[in-house]
Amino acid sequence: MKPATAEDILDLMDAGYISAAVGAAMELGLFWLLDEHPMKTQGVADRFEIPTRRCQYWLQLLERVGLIEEGFSGYTLSATARSAVLDVYGRESWALLAKETRERLPAVQNLPRDLGRPGSVWGDREGAPPDYVSAMSNSLESARRFTRMLYEIHRPLADALGRFLDTRGVDRMMDLGGGSGVVSMALLGRNPNLSAVVVDIANVCEAGREIARENSMAERVTYHAAEFRSDELPAEFDMVLECDVNVYSEELFRKVRRAMNPGGRFVIVDQFAPEPGVAPPSRIHWALEGSMEKPDYRFPTAMEVQTHLKSTGFKNISLRSFSVDVEPVTRFSEDLTVIEATS
Ligand SMILES: C[S@@+](CC[C@H](N)C(=O)[O-])C[C@H]1O[C@@H](n2cnc3c(N)ncnc32)[C@H](O)[C@@H]1O
Repeated sequence: MKPATAEDILDLMDAGYISAAVGAAMELGLFWLLDEHPMKTQGVADRFEIPTRRCQYWLQLLERVGLIEEGFSGYTLSATARSAVLDVYGRESWALLAKETRERLPAVQNLPRDLGRPGSVWGDREGAPPDYVSAMSNSLESARRFTRMLYEIHRPLADALGRFLDTRGVDRMMDLGGGSGVVSMALLGRNPNLSAVVVDIANVCEAGREIARENSMAERVTYHAAEFRSDELPAEFDMVLECDVNVYSEELFRKVRRAMNPGGRFVIVDQFAPEPGVAPPSRIHWALEGSMEKPDYRFPTAMEVQTHLKSTGFKNISLRSFSVDVEPVTRFSEDLTVIEATS
């Protein structure tokens, strides 16, 4: 969204209102309601228990950005809402994406005051959203929602990786921080000899098992509950995959090496910083928000990860950029790099 005129700049400054209105439509399920049948303002107001005039303004904003249209029988979905919202992800995924944005936005809502703050914008963390891994550790329901959402949004990435990664000769792989196991399932779909062990926190494993059962993959993808920073990892793997996990310490890499068979492959897939202290293009907003909590917040570069691999004894380190050619192409599938190394 690059503004070109003064009116564009004014729109940009007011974009917070649009973002809030669209997020509410996602969280409350408005688009899915209007997909069932057109509704007039009063019907929407009654359905969500919103004062009528307030509801009118909310709907008008959504109409202004082209997501709904007003016709004779009431508001309906626009073609854009259908193709860019309903046809892309399910209602639960959109609702969770909107909720996460809403919970994190307070970090950047008073930047003139907070940019210069020495510590965390959240102060004593009162009101701060918990980090997503702790939230999932504390609640099976959170783990289910997040894991299902990520299963859906990572399907295109998983399918593309399934074609990109050569798993010939690999019989047993570990999917470290594997979540639903979506990438493992894509790899298994192309290699009938392969089985996978997803290592993740207990609640995510529970959620992943349900997804594997629904995909008739439960025999070939199993789930091992572990906190990989503090627990030991299972062993004897021909390949370890770490996709979109963003934990690259030497301590973890040493554990990974111990978990591998001689000559085994370690494959890392992520969006890395182009330079130290610069955010990956698709994660700039997360970087800013993260820095409002931890001023030195940063994403690692691929070079830093390679250095850790070298110091922990990995060999034949290679790096390839990777693009997802499966629709829908979104920020979750841009700017990816695949780093490979052998034990
Ligand atoms: C962004 S998700 C990626 C999931 C999966 N690899 C994928 O590409 O769909 C990161 C996963 O790493 C797991 N994770 C993060 N830190 C962890 C830790 N310390 N121990 C175990 N799992 C962890 C999270 O629970 C989450 O499922």
